[in-house]
Amino acid sequence: MTLTEAQARHAQFAGEIRRHDHAYYVAAKPVISDLDYDLLYKELQAIEKDFPDLVTPESPTQRVGGAPLSEFKSVRHAIPMMSLDNTYSQAELQEFVQRVQKLLPGETLEWVVEPKVDGLAVSLRYEGGNFLVGATRGDGTHGDDITTNLRTIRSLPLSLGAPGGDGQASHRRNAAGGDRDVVGGPETACGCPVPVADREADQMAAPAVLEVRGEVYMTRSGFEKLNAERVAAGEEAFANPRNSAAGSLKQLDPKIVAQRPLAIVLYGLGQVAEGRWPGTQQALLEWLKALGFKTPERTWFCRSAEELLAAIAELDQVRGGFNYETDGAVIKLNDFDQQRRIGATTKAPRWAIAYKYAAEQARTRLKAITVQVGRTGALTPVAELEPVFLAGSTIGRATLHNEDYIRAKDIRIGDMVVIEKAGEVIPAVVAVELAARTGAEPGFTFPTACPECGAATAKETGPDDTTGAIWRCVNRECPAQVRGRIEHWCSRGAMDIEGGGEVMAAQLVKHGLVRDVADLYALKLEQLVALERMGEKSAGNFLAALAVSKTRDLWRLLFGLGILHIGAGGAKSLGRHFPSLEAILTADEEALQTADDIGVVIAQSLLEWRADGANQSLIERLRAAGLNFTSQLYQSQGAAGPLAGKSFVLTGTLPTLTREAAAARIEAAGGRVSGSVSKKTDYVVAGAEAGSKLEKAQKLGVKIIGETELLELTGV
Ligand code: IVH
Repeated sequence: MTLTEAQARHAQFAGEIRRHDHAYYVAAKPVISDLDYDLLYKELQAIEKDFPDLVTPESPTQRVGGAPLSEFKSVRHAIPMMSLDNTYSQAELQEFVQRVQKLLPGETLEWVVEPKVDGLAVSLRYEGGNFLVGATRGDGTHGDDITTNLRTIRSLPLSLGAPGGDGQASHRRNAAGGDRDVVGGPETACGCPVPVADREADQMAAPAVLEVRGEVYMTRSGFEKLNAERVAAGEEAFANPRNSAAGSLKQLDPKIVAQRPLAIVLYGLGQVAEGRWPGTQQALLEWLKALGFKTPERTWFCRSAEELLAAIAELDQVRGGFNYETDGAVIKLNDFDQQRRIGATTKAPRWAIAYKYAAEQARTRLKAITVQVGRTGALTPVAELEPVFLAGSTIGRATLHNEDYIRAKDIRIGDMVVIEKAGEVIPAVVAVELAARTGAEPGFTFPTACPECGAATAKETGPDDTTGAIWRCVNRECPAQVRGRIEHWCSRGAMDIEGGGEVMAAQLVKHGLVRDVADLYALKLEQLVALERMGEKSAGNFLAALAVSKTRDLWRLLFGLGILHIGAGGAKSLGRHFPSLEAILTADEEALQTADDIGVVIAQSLLEWRADGANQSLIERLRAAGLNFTSQLYQSQGAAGPLAGKSFVLTGTLPTLTREAAAARIEAAGGRVSGSVSKKTDYVVAGAEAGSKLEKAQKLGVKIIGETELLELTGV
């Protein structure tokens, strides 16, 4: 490929990826499969490898970059980031409207109502249309420079233009019938209508300096998944999406941030210079959207206090369907000139107010505080409650997070407490009704010994400084920990051993049959049959499942070992990068971090784990028991196989195979699947309704095959 060809291909692929990022992360209307996306991305990486000069900070490959920071730099906000006055009362909202009317006598007032997104306020600075600096609100005048973290958020455009983030040119190309299979006609990749940007380009182009403000949040679905993964990796669950978004942005290692399901929604302006920008909030939101930003998904335009109240009520009805948590509505005067004329107090603008919805809460009595011991020895205090109905279910237990939380809220046994459950949040005790205290309520002393085994406990600061300090039982033989480790090893996401659930783990540990996961492989039928409620058949099934588990892929074993911070994702990354357990256990910290998504936290945790003699002997016993220590994930990407070195492009619908299945077969046979046809393509596999890729293959004289030939080639 010549440099000119490479430039053209680079621009094309980068543009396509930006449009697909926009379609997926901003418009939530993906148009290609994950596999096709990955292929495009790999293609771009390959070009950049051969032509490093083509790499710019705006390239989609440059989102996660650089070594972890030692601290965040402070940045001064050119225009302070203010907070909002807020109210829970409709009467106060009406008073607010009257107050503004008094400041603007005789003028017509128009309002915009937006969801109040429960995230973290940030300011993004673009210069020349490119993302330059992003900062937290901080104290309002100075915030932390979290640019590298923000860059990892895929709904944040690295360069501005029409949706897709690479300027209007891309839309024109699509409109003229670009060479993509999926969308034709005058639409963007996400199916959005061609934005105003294309019609009034001069007004819509990004000013030379543009600061936009909004909220970083964690998606509800992402939050649930992340918490499940954290628990599986032996980490403490986050209390709610807001805390986890805050904790994520505080990370100094952008690799960790990149794995967090963060998103960003924009609704305001900071400094703007040299150019034109809208004069009303309503137009601003349209404009931001046309530039490629995600904006609040529903807003209301109102002309009176009555309309405002109706809008607020409607927002309350629909906000449960948003993918972010909202705790209220923000009411803003629409006209920027009116905003400017009434100005702000030292703290908040006079032209806006937040109306907060009361969270779903209930009062009940705290009967007792128990302490649960997890697989990693972490001690979690749990509130045992008088059962109470809240937000659709009966709640008898709620989390008290950690010792610091109980102390900060002065929670005592016998207290009347307020519990809250908002959205995806785990029910939690949020307040104590001090007025209801008799004085006889005993305070809670966190146990200094493990409630399960009596061993000493040690206090530990949260691993990433995002959760409170936690106590851990230091006895690795603690029955609660052993039970947890066995159960985790057998779990579906790890070694997938049927029958190895909570009850089995508890029995095996109770009867002293198993002290670690290697002991599982020495179990005898007669030992199992002797257990309570265990028939010969289920005992036999369990032994058979154990035998099958010996062949499981290495990543499952790695995950199953329950090494702190190594979740399924991290284990897979290691499995893809290293051929065997030996290779992982002898790699140094630096080598470990060359694997995708493996940062310093995981690398160090692994080093610590393997330095422990007990773990070394555990590995040797697993080896002696015949467990598989080689990585199939690694091998399947190897170049061996009948199709080694051959490159394939898939297009259209194949008679029986999905694209994913076809690609998996090609890769398993050593071939490579690419997203676009070039002279280097060896085969185009064409199915029904094959599009422009087929035409291109014909033009270039690339060999075209169907599913049957593909199956023959891959040796099936
Ligand atoms: S406007 C000068 N709009 O709420 C006014 N804020 O309680 C700036 N927030 O600091 C804020 N959604 O972090 C605005 N649609 C929205 C918002 C919003 C959430 C946050 C923001 C602000 C806080 C004030």
